[in-house]
Amino acid sequence: MTGTKFGCGAGLCGACTVHLNGEAIRSCQTVVSDAVGKTITTIEGLSAKGDHPLQKAWIAEQVPQCGYCQSGQIMQAAALLSENSNPTRDEVIAHMDGNLCRCMTYSRIQKAIMRAASEMHTASNTSTERRAT
Ligand code: FES
Ligand code: FES
Repeated sequence: MTGTKFGCGAGLCGACTVHLNGEAIRSCQTVVSDAVGKTITTIEGLSAKGDHPLQKAWIAEQVPQCGYCQSGQIMQAAALLSENSNPTRDEVIAHMDGNLCRCMTYSRIQKAIMRAASEMHTASNTSTERRAT
């Protein structure tokens, strides 16, 4: 699998971010023994068809430039939205703080996360309303 990227190798950039039991971690700082028996999700496993709300929002907002940091950015954002589908802009900024982008796509990343959150929030409200009727 080629989605996860190696950047600094020192826990400083977030390019290597994957999920371990649903939590965003820096894979370059994780020893194999810590992953034994746990579920690892890379960008390839985020959705079966590449249509996670974040992936759709990334396309809609045309986020990537060179693209190198983007898998890590999406995995970091996915961990936030799995716990909080309605984050404030400040919560998004705080959560994404450790993921660096040398191409400076930060404002598009923030917009894409807010767009995906809004879509997820609307979808969850719609399904709640459907269940209530
Ligand atoms: S490669 Fe930079 S944090 Fe892992
Ligand atoms: S898009 Fe180039 S490093 Fe982020």
